[in-house]
Amino acid sequence: MIGFENVRKEYPGGTVAVEDFTLEIPSHRSVVLVGSSGSGKTTLMRMINRMVDPTAGRVLIDGEDVAHLDPVQLRRSIGYVMQASGLLPHRTVLDNITTVPVLRGTSRRDARTRAAELLELVGLDQQVATRYPAQLSGGQQQRVGVARALAADPDILLMDEPFGAVDPIVRADLQQELLRLQRELRKTIVFVTHDIDEAFLVGDRVVLLRPGGIIAQQGAPREILARPADDFVSRFVGADRGTRTLHLEEVDGRRVVVDADGRATGVLDHDRTAGEHMT
Ligand SMILES: Nc1ncnc2c1ncn2[C@@H]1O[C@H](COP(=O)(O)OP(=O)(O)O)[C@@H](O)[C@H]1O
Ligand SMILES: [Mg+2]
Repeated sequence: MIGFENVRKEYPGGTVAVEDFTLEIPSHRSVVLVGSSGSGKTTLMRMINRMVDPTAGRVLIDGEDVAHLDPVQLRRSIGYVMQASGLLPHRTVLDNITTVPVLRGTSRRDARTRAAELLELVGLDQQVATRYPAQLSGGQQQRVGVARALAADPDILLMDEPFGAVDPIVRADLQQELLRLQRELRKTIVFVTHDIDEAFLVGDRVVLLRPGGIIAQQGAPREILARPADDFVSRFVGADRGTRTLHLEEVDGRRVVVDADGRATGVLDHDRTAGEHMT
């Protein structure tokens, strides 16, 4: 469990990035912080691994105040994936993945074996191991970034707009891969994005932020969609424009779900269970 208790962050110069933020993030779940640029998402995320220290309040991991933990050790124990992959350009993919585990005392041999498993896990060919980051596509670089973040087998994975810089098709692939990985690994994931669709897709829980890190609403995606707390949330999720409104059309005796653009998205199925399911 990650806890934020009345956390405030004021940067030198006087910008109040986060006013007063309190949140509990349960273990083994994915929580998405979503909000416009400048709303304090990155600041909040970086307070978990002490890349940023709060001006006031506490951040706790499993009940322990991170202020009492060594920042370097802490950072190595938490996976971190950022938008521009953050790979070291003059090191091979293999070295990028094995650096932290070796620093933490894993033998080179074990780290290499693990790196090969991780490349497979993130859907990359073993051949990329000897390449340099610049010799990979943007999507491949992000996959290596995820493999590297998982290399030390962290309980917590921080992902700051990790798929923001790749094209929409690659992005959709990476999102699906992340969902598959999470079904397998069950990490505690804190994911930051400004894209509400991405937030609803990857988050078990979504925390929607106003500027200053103020929580506009939090909950499961379905709860936020069904009951937006106010106009700000409605606008953010697109509920006000009707872009998320689905309706039913009868086609040859079956009920087809159609979205706001008139595209058929599924069929309502009565047969399988007592409830109704989109297929
Ligand atoms: N190192 C810094 N020094 C001064 N101001 C900063 C710094 N980092 C972020 N800020 C400011 O804090 C606010 C929140 O930034 P950030 O946490 O990066 O938001 P987000 O990730 O949601 O875009 C912004 O106004 C930003 O300009
Ligand atoms: Mg940011």
